[in-house]
This record gives sequence, C-alpha cells and structure tokens, in this order.
Amino acid sequence: MNHQPKPLVAVIMGSKSDWDVMRQTVDTLTRFDVPHECRVLSAHRTPAATAEYVSGVESRGVEVVIAAAGGAAHLAGVAAAHTILPVLGVPMESASLKGLDSLLSTVQMPGGIPVGTLAIGKAGATNAALLAVAILGVKRPELRDKLRRFREEQANKILSETLA
Ligand code: RP5
Repeated sequence: MNHQPKPLVAVIMGSKSDWDVMRQTVDTLTRFDVPHECRVLSAHRTPAATAEYVSGVESRGVEVVIAAAGGAAHLAGVAAAHTILPVLGVPMESASLKGLDSLLSTVQMPGGIPVGTLAIGKAGATNAALLAVAILGVKRPELRDKLRRFREEQANKILSETLA
C-alpha cells in the first residue's frame, strides 16, 4: 500500500546534469514538509513525454510546477503551455554563457503564457521552492507560519554574525 502523500509540487529538469543544483529545491521543499515529485524531462529530447507529464499533474493534485533548464532553456515555457498551474522557471548556469542564455530563454516569455523566473543557479533553485511554499501558503496557514519562522531564523543568523 502506498502511504506517500500526494505531491503538491512537481519539479522537472532538462537533464540529470541539473540535479546537483536542483537538489536545493528539493531540500528546501523537504525542509517545509511539502510533498513533491521530481523528474528529468526535456523540452527537446523528450517533447511528447514532457507534454504528457505536465498535462497530467493538475488532475493528480499538483499545485505548482518548477522547471529547470539550461542553454536554450525552453522547458519552463513548454511546461507553462501545457498547464494553467503556476510554473516557476529556474535558469541553469551554462558552460558557455554562465546561464545568461538560460535566464533570457526562461524569462522572456511572450505575453499570454507566463513563467515566473527565478535567479540563475542555486539561488534560483532555493527561491523557486520558497516561492512555491508561499503560493501554497495562501490557503495553508501552517505553511505561512513556517515561512515566518524561516525568515526569523535567517534574520537572527545575520544579526548574530561577528567579524574577526
Ligand atoms: C538542458 O541542457 C538541460 O537542462 C541542461 O541544463 C543542459 C545541458 O544538458 P546535458 O547536455 O548536460 O544533458 O536541456
């Protein structure tokens, strides 16, 4: 019997090579006890499987999609084309252009199909999860409380820094 809670967030990435960065997303969702699932799916290498997967997540109870890709990074845009759920895009740092290509490919969606784009790399991967928690928190007071505590801890850490 499967006692796993139904995922609220679907995390997809264009390649396994994105996983080292996208662990930050998963670690952050786990920290907030947000059920999630993770898949490698590519907009260009597995276009049909990507469309099929993203088209099906809403009916399974997913509320936010996070999509990471690098280079000609159209995964988040393609995901957004196949669902009305909020799609958060995380541009991966690329070898040749340091992720500027990924950022522009992800952020520059023509009007009509939005992708909420985060920062390049690990900061974006973490913030995509935090933004997903905030979105889910609109209807879940316990998640809003956790986010407030997270911010307090973060602030306390900064305020307690000492410089040798
Ligand atoms: C994108 O191409 C992936 O998201 C990855 O960031 C980049 C490179 O992929 P690999 O060649 O490492 O598989 O599709």
